[in-house]
Amino acid sequence: MMFTDVPSPVDFHDLQQARAWVENTVAARPWRSAFFDAFVDALNQHFRRSFSVLELGSGPGHLAGHVLERCTVAQYRAIDFSAAMHALAREHLGAAAERVLFVEKDFRSPHWFAGLAPVDAIVTMQAAHEVRHKARQPGFLAQVRRVIAEGGLFLFCDHYAEPGTGKNPELFLTKREQADTLVRAGFQDVRMLLDFGGIALHRAVPLTVTPRASRTIDPHANRERGGFIGRCRN
Ligand SMILES: C[S@@+](CC[C@H](N)C(=O)[O-])C[C@H]1O[C@@H](n2cnc3c(N)ncnc32)[C@H](O)[C@@H]1O
Repeated sequence: MMFTDVPSPVDFHDLQQARAWVENTVAARPWRSAFFDAFVDALNQHFRRSFSVLELGSGPGHLAGHVLERCTVAQYRAIDFSAAMHALAREHLGAAAERVLFVEKDFRSPHWFAGLAPVDAIVTMQAAHEVRHKARQPGFLAQVRRVIAEGGLFLFCDHYAEPGTGKNPELFLTKREQADTLVRAGFQDVRMLLDFGGIALHRAVPLTVTPRASRTIDPHANRERGGFIGRCRN
């Protein structure tokens, strides 16, 4: 089914507009730092080893800066379709930019995830709605699920629709829909970590399905486990 794009008020490819978005956001949402802290805490609680990170819609690198400074990151890949945003991120990160692999990719293209090696953590902030219609989010999140390594973590943070706030319900999921969409996309243990200013941060882990093949390899062990097919673990 086709959905008409909700037009974006900002052309992120244009350096001036990208810079203006960053300046306005910093001024209007100083409390974003609480979200950065929550991302860092969730990552450090989940991983007891160094881990790889993929950020979707990384923009000016604010989240990357916090994660690189306070987590043991093995590799950080920042995906954004805007060369202008990547330039602003390099500027913001300074020397830490050396530790980031900047990838220009459009996550609305059907195979944006092709060729990406499984990654331990995928993080995204104020960017998932850039698929420009909420009906595209289930497909997008299912693609995200395919890129996360077993035992990995997804931190999904975005605006949500709420009556009376003026946020376009065609573009944004409600908070409830955010959690439900994560489950339908193949995640479990979905929990909201922070909700402020019309933005919610959810954590979710990839659902792992026990391979059917285990039944034929060891039927006795399978009986002991209840003879399940496709039961979830973790
Ligand atoms: C609202 S900004 C958020 C930036 C950053 N996550 C933050 O919170 O500071 C959205 C970002 O998503 C990027 N973006 C928008 N549509 C995209 C797409 N289809 N593929 C990849 N990046 C996209 C924009 O260039 C921009 O950097």
